Amino acid sequence: MAVLDVDSVSIRFGGLQALSDVSVRVQEWEIVGLIGPNGAGKTTLFNCITGFYRPNEGRVRFLGRDVTDVPIHERAASGMGRTFQQVGLVKGATVIENLITAQHAKVAYDDLSGIVGTPAVWRHERELRDRAMQILELVDLADLADRRVAGLPYGTMKNVEMAAVLATDPEILMLDEPSSGMGPEEAHELGDTLLRLRRELGLTILMIEHHVPLVVRVCDHVYCLNFGQLLTEGPPEDVRNHPEVVTAYLGEEAEEGDALAPAPPTSAPAAEGGGGDAPAGPGRRRRRPLRAGEAG
Ligand SMILES: Nc1ncnc2c1ncn2[C@@H]1O[C@H](COP(=O)(O)OP(=O)(O)OP(=O)(O)O)[C@@H](O)[C@H]1O
Ligand SMILES: [Mg+2]
Repeated sequence: MAVLDVDSVSIRFGGLQALSDVSVRVQEWEIVGLIGPNGAGKTTLFNCITGFYRPNEGRVRFLGRDVTDVPIHERAASGMGRTFQQVGLVKGATVIENLITAQHAKVAYDDLSGIVGTPAVWRHERELRDRAMQILELVDLADLADRRVAGLPYGTMKNVEMAAVLATDPEILMLDEPSSGMGPEEAHELGDTLLRLRRELGLTILMIEHHVPLVVRVCDHVYCLNFGQLLTEGPPEDVRNHPEVVTAYLGEEAEEGDALAPAPPTSAPAAEGGGGDAPAGPGRRRRRPLRAGEAG
């Protein structure tokens, strides 16, 4: 049984067909990549999977259950963990506070004992803190536990956000451009971390990513979207070399010897609390094509 089964999903925004008939499947313990140029519909697909958008057609199944009409929080509680393209963290809080807050989404104690602070609540808070520290150690961020998120480099924020999602103990980890803001070395380390997470936590991962060396190294399978449609899917090397994929990325600027463009840092950190993935406007530019050999 697939962990995630996206079946023929379509969604329109007014006159714009943002996704048409897109099917994506993620099996247990797989790391699956989702690539495609700016505005292809990648984040929109994440929003359909996680419940931020309701597709006009198609179904989303998670762990064998049809969740197409299930609210966001219930999907999250059932094990869908996602990060946002523009970092969904409380930037005024510390790293560990963000991990504890993320876990609270899953915790239930009655309001009064929470306010008064019964021994059971203290014990529970202690457990959340311990778990947060374990996760930070697992992703090599323990040194930053008491640092305020706001002062961290963007690439580090992306890692902290991933850690916050991990703290909720997800079945599937959905990452929206996890390497944005990172240089080639940091992106390589992220690859190590993802492979370790799969090994040690038995995680299944679906990630939107432009950094080709990272996709090729860690993904078992890759889907490429273009203008809301699935262009191709397959093993990473095949997808990367697929002529239509190369053309879709490079457009008219394609030249012999060009490789797929990895993402430059896409945007400045978002507003406090994050999570608002601003739609790509019609005037947004394509990513700059990359010269041969430039890829990290
Ligand atoms: N809520 C919305 N209302 C109107 N249009 C939207 C909305 N969300 C997304 N879109 C449009 O859908 C298309 C796909 O956007 P999406 O953000 O999914 O692209 P993407 O593949 O994630 O691109 P990028 O690589 O730039 O992040 C874009 O044309 C975008 O403007
Ligand atoms: Mg996006």
